[in-house]
Amino acid sequence: MKVHSYEKAVLGVGIAILIGCAVALAYATLGMGIHLPGAEGRIDPARVYQTPPFNQPGVRQIGPGRYEAVVVAQAWAFNPAEIRVPAGAEVLFTVTSTDVLHGFNVEGTRLNLMLIPGQISRNRYRFAEPGEYLLICHEYCGIAHHTMAGRVIVEPSSEVVARTTAAAHPGNHP
Ligand code: CUA
Repeated sequence: MKVHSYEKAVLGVGIAILIGCAVALAYATLGMGIHLPGAEGRIDPARVYQTPPFNQPGVRQIGPGRYEAVVVAQAWAFNPAEIRVPAGAEVLFTVTSTDVLHGFNVEGTRLNLMLIPGQISRNRYRFAEPGEYLLICHEYCGIAHHTMAGRVIVEPSSEVVARTTAAAHPGNHP
């Protein structure tokens, strides 16, 4: 079969685009750790505040250099609205919604979750540098959707170590 040279060129471009997309997908998945949130757990949305870990929203240490941030979203706020984590630590965000569909997006990061009532959404992230990040709901959730925001405050990790040490040895203050 004779293939016209223009046809060959167009086929070549098509194949190159397909390979490029496959490489980009592999890089995003393996290199950057971007993936779709899965249905990792289901809970009764009417009993969120009675269901662990959501009965104690907030940040807790779950291992050396590892933290879990448990957040509850509801119209129109995040609980807690201020999330403090140390720089360099691996933070597991465990989030759910009590009422309607909400979003969980931390600006400038790949933290981007859809919060579905009755479903737990999780994602891990490591903030390399101290700073303050805006947390917004990016799924339309009603009349005050635009006001639904919070903050992630990334503290220098030495500060966290110092505070933890001070708390552990309250008598050692100068
Ligand atoms: Cu919650 Cu928009």
